Amino acid sequence: MTELTDTTGPAAAAGPVAFPQDRSCPYHPPTGYAPLRDGRSLSRATLYDGREVWLVTARNTARALLADPRLSTDRRRSGFPAQTPRFQASLSRKVALLGLDDPEHQRQRRMLIPAFTVKRAAALRPWIQRIVDELLDTMIARGPVADLVTAFALPLPSMVICGLLGVPYADHEFFEAQSRRLLRGPNAADTLDARDRLEQYMGELIDSKAKEAEPGDGILDDLVRHRLPTGELDRTDLISLALILLVAGHETTANMISLGTYTLLRHPARLAELRADPALLPTAVEELLRMLSIAEGLQRVALEDIEIEGITIRAGDGVLFSTSVINRDTSVYDGPDDLDFHRADRHHVAFGFGIHQCLGQNLARAELEIALGSLFTRLPGLRLAAPAEDIPFKPGDTVQGMLELPVTW
Ligand code: HEM
Repeated sequence: MTELTDTTGPAAAAGPVAFPQDRSCPYHPPTGYAPLRDGRSLSRATLYDGREVWLVTARNTARALLADPRLSTDRRRSGFPAQTPRFQASLSRKVALLGLDDPEHQRQRRMLIPAFTVKRAAALRPWIQRIVDELLDTMIARGPVADLVTAFALPLPSMVICGLLGVPYADHEFFEAQSRRLLRGPNAADTLDARDRLEQYMGELIDSKAKEAEPGDGILDDLVRHRLPTGELDRTDLISLALILLVAGHETTANMISLGTYTLLRHPARLAELRADPALLPTAVEELLRMLSIAEGLQRVALEDIEIEGITIRAGDGVLFSTSVINRDTSVYDGPDDLDFHRADRHHVAFGFGIHQCLGQNLARAELEIALGSLFTRLPGLRLAAPAEDIPFKPGDTVQGMLELPVTW
């Protein structure tokens, strides 16, 4: 366990805060993070096992550090911070892309960039719109009350990422259930078992694609056809890459749709504003990304000593980034706790920053704009079908979102 050796700089003032904590309102940072919101940029946090790490809480500091090659995302390195026992248990495994530093990270990312450009996301819009329309047709035909998570928020990104990758959507119940165990299973053994099952599933899918006489047109088909034979990716790397894309591609966006809907329904004046001016949709999505910060606690370990703002982060120290606090930095945003579609500065770190900045962000934005735009247009009377305070949401140690979202219209 690494000792933090220099905690006396001006940026780090108070004692450690437990991290992560549960939110008490699903769209606001935990109330226990209040001490982190006093203008400091780096604080100390205590993890579940008592270990202390650095916690970055200001936007400029976050950007500087997320772009700093002296911080690594390779979880096999000693000192890599684990926020949960289930994450700790999987630290020894090599993770493609997100768990690699440059130059290997860049080599893998380059293979995928053409499939995730702004232009590609724009070209996918009519197809995404058709999926959204069909899901809403089915939900409306069945009539209220509906659980928006299972009827809409989860199947949409799941169908989209399956179609893009070339993974059969018919298997969705299996991989959605395993992803849930992976991200918030009850214990480390359960998480590892889910990961083994997903790896086995993906391995079999990749092997069957390699044997196909007429290959499909998914991203995985392309990688199997062009990158496996050349040795640019081996089978293990390809499995890991495919799993990251599959899990990151559906879990995150699903949470944004459900929590985004809940948040808009809890801000009726903003929702009315959006309905009156649909051109606000892209800005509204950006503001929801900032405000909801569903991917909380980005993780890094320092490879060398780093001097920043009068503090020395020592080699081996764990560094976490609280996106929910960074995205409410009072030195950047006026009224950071308000949902405001007219901000002068809309930059946020909800998709991260630097070399690991979300690969799927253009796709996610397209899905969110089409999903939220269509939902509120098709169902002008959409409202919660249970008291807002009674609707369960996810605990603080995983991607934030609604566990269910009963709605009526
Ligand atoms: C609204 C939805 C989404 C949010 C909030 C989100 C958030 C993030 C964040 C914060 C990171 C950076 C993690 C870090 O630096 O430690 C990231 C990386 C990543 N995301 Fe997303 N994501 C979303 C949707 C997607 C989608 C739809 C995909 C589809 C493929 C995707 C694929 C990835 C991948 C592959 C990475 C790793 C990139 C790299 O290491 O170079 N994400 N995402």
